[in-house]
Order: sequence, then C-alpha cells, then structure tokens
Amino acid sequence: MSDRVVGVVMNGVTGRMGYRQHLVRSVLAINEQGGVTLSDGSRVSLRPVLVGRDLRRVGDVADRHGIADYTTDLDDALADPDNTIYFDAQVTQARVAATLKAIELGRHVYTEKPTAETVADAVRLAEAAAEAGVKNGVVQDKLYLQGLLKLKRLIDGGFFGRILSVRGEFGYWVFEGDWQPAQRPSWNYRVEDGGGIVLDMFPHWAYVLENLFGRVESVYAHVSTHIPERWDERGQVYKATADDAAYGVFEIEGGVVAQINSSWTVRVNRDELVEFQVDGTHGSAVAGLRNCRIQHRGSTPRPIWNPDVPVTESFRDQWQEVPDNTEFENGFKFQWEMFIRHVLEDAPFPHTFAAGARGVQLAELALRSHAEGRRLPVEEL
Ligand SMILES: NC(=O)c1ccc[n+]([C@@H]2O[C@H](COP(=O)([O-])OP(=O)(O)OC[C@H]3O[C@@H](n4cnc5c(N)ncnc54)[C@H](O)[C@@H]3O)[C@@H](O)[C@H]2O)c1
Repeated sequence: MSDRVVGVVMNGVTGRMGYRQHLVRSVLAINEQGGVTLSDGSRVSLRPVLVGRDLRRVGDVADRHGIADYTTDLDDALADPDNTIYFDAQVTQARVAATLKAIELGRHVYTEKPTAETVADAVRLAEAAAEAGVKNGVVQDKLYLQGLLKLKRLIDGGFFGRILSVRGEFGYWVFEGDWQPAQRPSWNYRVEDGGGIVLDMFPHWAYVLENLFGRVESVYAHVSTHIPERWDERGQVYKATADDAAYGVFEIEGGVVAQINSSWTVRVNRDELVEFQVDGTHGSAVAGLRNCRIQHRGSTPRPIWNPDVPVTESFRDQWQEVPDNTEFENGFKFQWEMFIRHVLEDAPFPHTFAAGARGVQLAELALRSHAEGRRLPVEEL
C-alpha cells in the first residue's frame, strides 16, 4: 500500500515510446512494485490519466491495463489540481503547445526528447518552467543503459587514463515500407512533421557526451537523405524529406574528439544497435546498450600491418567483459522515480528543460553545419 497517490496526465500513450517505455515499463511498473519510496520511507503511487486524440484508441490502452481515467480533453485533465504532473510523449511537433499549457496551470512537466523542434522553442519552454517555478525534466534514458553505466563506472574509476577519442556507431536498417513494413513511424522521415535523424538522435548525443566526457565545444556534421521515397502506415508512397543518416564530429572540452555515425540506412555488423568505443592512454572500452568490453594497456596486443599475410589473431577475443556487479533497472523507470522524488521532495534532477535545450541546440547546429559546410562552435545557452 502506498501512502500517497499522485495524478500524472500522460499524453501520447498510444505511441511507441509513450506506451511501452513510459506507461507499461515505468508508471505501471512503479505501481506494481508498490510505488516510489521517498527519503522518509513513505511510498507514492501514480494515478495515470491518459490523454489522446482518439477516444477509442486511448480507451483501448486504458482498458488493457485497468486504467479508469482517459480523455481526449487535455485542458480538462490538466484542470484537476490532483493531477500534479504532466508527461508528454507525443510527436515532437505537438509537444511545446501542450507543455506550455501545463506549465501555465502550474503543473510539473516531464517530456520525451527533443523538448522542441527549435532552440528558440526549447529555451522558451525552459524559461516558462523556471518563471512558473515548476519542476521540469526531459527523458535522457541512454545515460541509464547498463552498457553506459558500466562505461561511466570505468571513467569514474580512472580506467582510461587520459581519454583521447570516442567513436559512436548507432543505427540499423529501417525498411522503406513497400515490401516489408517500416519499423518506425513515417513522421520520422518527413521534415515538415518534425522528423529527421539529427533532431531525433543528436539530443541523445548531447547529454551522453556532456555527462560522460565534458562540454561539447564544437560540431561538424554531414547529413544525408539516402532513401528519398518511403511507404507510410497505410501503404502510401511519400517523399522522405528528412535526413536519415548523419555523420558528426564533436570537439569536447579537454581535447577529446568524438565521432558519431547515426543512421537508419545501415545494416548492423556490431554486437548492439549502438556502440561507443572510447580510447584512452591506459585502456579502451566498447560500450553498448547492455554490455561493455575493455582492453587494458597491459593486455594490448601488438598488431603489425602486413596485408601480405592473413590475420592470425582474433582481435575481438582480446577484450574482456565488464561484470554487472549490481542489478540494473529499466532506465526509463529509473528516471521516472528520480523525477517523482524531485517533484515531491526536491531531490536532485539534472535532466532539466535547460539540459533538453542544449540537446536541441546541438541538433540545430549540426543541421546548420551541414548546410554551411563548416564546423560550428557550441555557445553556452
Ligand atoms: N527516448 C527515446 O529513446 C526515444 C525513442 C523514440 C522516440 N522518442 C521521442 O518520443 C516521441 C514520440 O515518438 P514515438 O516514436 O513514440 O512516435 P509515435 O508516432 O509512435 O507516437 C506519437 C504519439 O503522439 C500522438 N500524436 C499527437 N499529435 C500527433 C500528430 N499530429 N500526429 C501524429 N501523432 C500525434 C500519437 O497519437 C501517439 O500517441 C518523439 O518526440 C520522439 O522524439 C524518444
């Protein structure tokens, strides 16, 4: 039994992220475990109020999970003072207006990334939340992936010596939708609907780089739309106007160089859908979603370049797996619990709208870098 119940208005729960990660794997999972435990030992459970554009679809989700409250009327849901928190996992384009409405009514706000499509809007949201004095947060789930938590542990333990470079490889083949259905929503491939891999992924890279390696000081990106035509959810052909691959180079304070490829037009020849290789003077690591492998300076082999002879050693086998040493939670749920503690007892929460705005800034600068064909400095916002 929980000691207290907090109403959470959840908008966009018929979508991929809103449903699976936020409703099922976070909010409902928190309730199943008996709520969020606060520092005084008391427990808080969450009362989801589902909001959607289509009453039947949002009602289906509610029925599936025995949720009593659902509506198509966002204003009505926000008007109830017991609904303390507004959460937004709608398409990016719909986020700013709905979130500003919640802020105006004094609701604490938590949203998916990116917080907005433009820096101007992202800053507007951060300022509005600050002026209204409401708690605000943005999803930065990649920081809580097992693989990246292990990488952070290595950094904190001084494993790398001086970190030199980071190589990130993210992506997989997203089907065009004609002979096999696409595994991502079609709005992702239309710039006019808030799509594009830069706006989708660079906000992630901004907080990953900033939290693990330091402030990003400059960005250069080459962006492509490799597949110009795709088929949507109804089987209709459409023009893919948004970027589907981006090749970025980032300079980080202290001289670390990061390169990250992001692509929906690449076939996976990796162990995981995202991997970061970090090379340092004393050791290297390759971290993915779950796993992290290391090679220490003392166990580094001595390859010699000679194309005339076949490779005799298996380079991949020369790495060692980093052990779990702890139990890892779902990253989305972990961040939800952090946010609830932030709202109710002012516990620290670094993933604010200001941090979210830095993510949008990096995406915007990357697109501009491509358009202008030059490296751009990342000014402090
Ligand atoms: N944290 C992550 O790793 C991650 C991953 C994917 C997507 N996202 C973010 O989550 C948000 C939702 O992405 P998704 O992949 O779940 O999308 P989706 O298309 O599956 O879901 C979108 C949701 O928004 C609603 N919606 C509201 N207005 C809409 C409109 N005008 N057109 C279409 N849908 C509308 C839909 O009903 C649906 O509930 C995006 O902002 C995206 O950037 C985050």
